[in-house]
Amino acid sequence: MGVPRLFSSLELRSLHLRNRIVVSPMCQYKAVDGKVQDWHFRHHSRFALGGSALAFVEATGVTAEGRITYGCTGIWDDYHIPGLKKIVEIYKAEGMAVGIQIGHAGRRASAALPWHGALPLREDGVDSPWTRIGPSAIPEQEGYPAPRSMTDQDILEVVDAFSLATKRALECGFDTVEVHGAHGYLLHSFFSPISNRRNDQYGGTLQRRMTFPLLVTEAVRAAWPTDMPIFYRVSAVDNVPGGISIEDTVALATELKKLGVDVVDCSSGGMSGPTTLSTEKLTYGYQVPYSEAVRAGADTKTMAVGLIIDPQHAEQILADEQADLVALAREMLSDSAWAYHAALQLGHDSPYDVLPPPYAFHLQRRAKVLEDA
Ligand SMILES: Cc1cc2nc3c(=O)[nH]c(=O)nc-3n(C[C@H](O)[C@H](O)[C@H](O)COP(=O)(O)O)c2cc1C
Repeated sequence: MGVPRLFSSLELRSLHLRNRIVVSPMCQYKAVDGKVQDWHFRHHSRFALGGSALAFVEATGVTAEGRITYGCTGIWDDYHIPGLKKIVEIYKAEGMAVGIQIGHAGRRASAALPWHGALPLREDGVDSPWTRIGPSAIPEQEGYPAPRSMTDQDILEVVDAFSLATKRALECGFDTVEVHGAHGYLLHSFFSPISNRRNDQYGGTLQRRMTFPLLVTEAVRAAWPTDMPIFYRVSAVDNVPGGISIEDTVALATELKKLGVDVVDCSSGGMSGPTTLSTEKLTYGYQVPYSEAVRAGADTKTMAVGLIIDPQHAEQILADEQADLVALAREMLSDSAWAYHAALQLGHDSPYDVLPPPYAFHLQRRAKVLEDA
């Protein structure tokens, strides 16, 4: 078949992506004081050998309070740089691009690890809770602690923290940064009328609810070289009555593009219920329609994510111009060499070239042996 679309390259400013396959950010909850550990090196080494084009380091707190859990990675201090640099080197050694997702958990911060229930930390628990912040003092769910409504000063401080985090990401050697604007975390909580009931310049109308996410984006763009790309992850819809609609997100994406965001990564949900997944009934590629709508509506590049598992499906998403990139999370945990298997399945002319030579050589040889077996 030649070279499938999935294996066509993409240029984002000066960044060359060798194919359209991206490893989606995935929290590992294994950091200590925000610092990455050996686990992270092993985890990322798997993907570095698997043939994708780009991988993102998990949601990484721009402040200590902006972490989701005590196990989340951070980039609020220079002492985080050496560990993150090592992850960058792991990817660069295999010709892969690597980005980092920077974020602030807002009213969803101070939570227990997923395998300890992911509930808000309690004063009488083993780990002490810390104060959450948000646009308004509205808890994520009934019975959960309400966040402290942010003052103008708080807002400026968080914008500054994003800017400093971006500068540290550059020092680490990352090829791109992704602003985490999804899943009910701080930026999304400003954008959504469910969690934002302010009546100052940061709340009320759609335009005003965008103000804080756009200020953060502007600061990130200003701190990041103009020849390097920026991603922004949205929760395209809240899936909650009265929440944000796809039209709202198209309006946001239009503004993001004006500020110099290169790719809008289209996730959804998180305003209530599970953090990373929408509460709607899930099916293969359930968020692809959001990517398609944002791509067409805002005339921007998009990344589709969410239950994209079958290579044919991924190929079709690109063929139908529903996205420019496809991101996989859980399937990569299961099969870090998904790109190689996709190349085989899609009839790529030289599927072995997707893998590093020490693997490619032997797999190609084995394939010849098997032809006669
Ligand atoms: C273990 C795990 C950790 C995740 N951590 C993040 C994260 O740090 N940032 C983020 O935006 N999404 C996160 N997600 C969501 C994924 O990036 C992805 O959007 C979601 O899992 C849907 O894709 P999938 O069906 O390919 O897994 C996480 C998902 C999983 C399974």
